[in-house]
Amino acid sequence: MNRPAIEGLRLNVPTHVNHPRLVAWVAEIAALTEAASVHWCDGSETEVQRLTEQLVAAGTMQRLNPALRPNSFLARSDPSDVARVEDRTFICSERPEDAGPTNNWMAPAEMRAVLQTGDKALFRGCMRGRTMYVVPFSMGPLGSHIAHIGVELTDSPYVAVSMRTMTRMGAAVFDVLGGHGEFVPCVHSVGAPLAEGQVDVPWPCNATKYIVQYPETREIWSYGSGYGGNALLGKKCFALRIASTMGRDHGWLAEHMLVLGVSSPEGKKYHVAAAFPSACGKTNFSMLVPPQGFEGWSVTTIGDDIAWIKPHADGRLYAINPEAGYFGVAPGTNYKTNPNCMDTLKRDVIFTNVALTDDGDVWWEEMTPTPPAHLIDWQGRDWTPEIAMANPVNGKPRPAAHPNSRFTVAAIHNPVLDTEWDNPNGVAIDAFIFGGRRSTTVPLVTEARDWVEGVYMAATMGSETTAAAAGQQGVVRRDPFAMLPFTGYNMSDYFQHWLDLGARLAAEGTRLPKIFCVNWFRKGADGRFVWPGYGENMRVLHWILGRVDGTAAGAEHVFGVSPRYDDLHWQGLDFSRAQFDSVISIDQPAWQQEMKLHDELFRQLAYHLPAELDATRVRIETKLAA
Ligand code: GTP
Ligand code: SPV
Ligand code: MN
Repeated sequence: MNRPAIEGLRLNVPTHVNHPRLVAWVAEIAALTEAASVHWCDGSETEVQRLTEQLVAAGTMQRLNPALRPNSFLARSDPSDVARVEDRTFICSERPEDAGPTNNWMAPAEMRAVLQTGDKALFRGCMRGRTMYVVPFSMGPLGSHIAHIGVELTDSPYVAVSMRTMTRMGAAVFDVLGGHGEFVPCVHSVGAPLAEGQVDVPWPCNATKYIVQYPETREIWSYGSGYGGNALLGKKCFALRIASTMGRDHGWLAEHMLVLGVSSPEGKKYHVAAAFPSACGKTNFSMLVPPQGFEGWSVTTIGDDIAWIKPHADGRLYAINPEAGYFGVAPGTNYKTNPNCMDTLKRDVIFTNVALTDDGDVWWEEMTPTPPAHLIDWQGRDWTPEIAMANPVNGKPRPAAHPNSRFTVAAIHNPVLDTEWDNPNGVAIDAFIFGGRRSTTVPLVTEARDWVEGVYMAATMGSETTAAAAGQQGVVRRDPFAMLPFTGYNMSDYFQHWLDLGARLAAEGTRLPKIFCVNWFRKGADGRFVWPGYGENMRVLHWILGRVDGTAAGAEHVFGVSPRYDDLHWQGLDFSRAQFDSVISIDQPAWQQEMKLHDELFRQLAYHLPAELDATRVRIETKLAA
């Protein structure tokens, strides 16, 4: 085949790559970015070891004590590059109304000028002095009819090794692609070219950032950040923003959901998909350890962040986890809150922005009840409880680990990995759960009486913002379906897509999954969470499964059905009726206020807003006023 040559650069195309369009694109991007060399990743053990050694030599990562944390590393990012940047994320559809009012929009031609074609285009020469890695990956089991392939070109070896953990990455992807297979092209640069002889910094990045999706041509361009969802382009950019538009076009769903299996003592197996906003408990819930009183029950993980959900010939909705690893929040994780996660993290982990202990292991807030006497914090500074107290951040001692510090680890290390996690056909979903982080107003659990009411609940969900995204934290914002930062098209069209899918399946006579809304985060007058959460969330999950089976009782109220005290299984937990009342009660004035926020959201989303949703809002408002 024709192997294009670029002056002064060898493309190094491996002999088993015979995809002319792919090779031409790699050549084009290498020429645009003026990369010093090109490396095609094969995903081998030898390769990852070499890249890791290189990252250690560059000071990007350091090896942790092999006796305590075998084959594990700590990376410290630039302090300005620690989270997703929602205000720099763009959906570049031809028409602004197809991106909708919840996305930043720019016309594709205009964005291409900024990134690629203009005289001062950001990608021009942006990889000078660096190697461009060609990272082939599959979202979903390799070769599965549900899976989709992507190729990420990146100048960050940290991204290349992370992608090996987070996706099915390696040479086998080229075999699946063959000569003409479809792939989503993903171009990533940290935006820090190196001049001749210039010494690199440990975490190169650029103050200017662009996270760009072209939904119509299914392309991704990311500039300026090396962190998480900004840079691991298979995750939010592909598996949510691009995949949600694929799903709209082809009748399926790409969702910000964990997927778990639950087995009863009688051996009945259920599958639940649950959407929570970033850093609101998906990883925790997906690895839940059933508490006292639930002997014989088990929970197993299919996925912890993203689900691709498709209707099958039997009419039911089946979900797969397109990822192969977890990029999870470290702070708050410990042997009480999430023991299975702690066990997952025993070896083969890349930690980013956690603290380093004196014996070469990691630590983060709440990992242990008392912090070590001395640490090196996420910025490489000495940390002691005294230093932390003397340098408060937002009125609290300065944390040793960044609040959005994370671990990158392969799913296969999860001790409660579901046997079906890798099944290319996925698992049949029995219930959908939507949960926001709300210190007031929203009850512990509510069942929607039908699909439309469920879509309404998910669409109007609010949540307090977290450290997962740059910007102000702890402010309540509407986060429809936990997809506000991730829907690759108009949010009202996305609601319509959910309604259409439900109507279609119902017309075919399918039993649709039931929809529930939960809130683990209500606080008492003392400012503390009232609901114990974590493993105890099993009590709510158990009620949900009872509702699916028709065995659990509940009481109808204005916007759904919730359990009364005696409808939950309390064995093993001391939780009073008064405490329960404070997490389940519906405060009428608070809900009248809440409805104003729903109204505000619907005004913002008026273009294409499904009429059923506004009708549901009016019905609830009328009942509240009665
Ligand atoms: P992303 O990876 O950002 O999409 O987030 P995630 O939803 O997977 O978040 P994760 O499970 O890592 O949740 C992190 C935060 O939620 C931590 O601060 C946890 O302590 C907190 N959390 C999780 N479950 C519970 C719970 O049941 N109750 C309370 N109070 N906090 C919880
Ligand atoms: C989230 O923010 O929802 C994440 C982390 O899962 S990141 O991959 O950085 O988007
Ligand atoms: Mn997420």
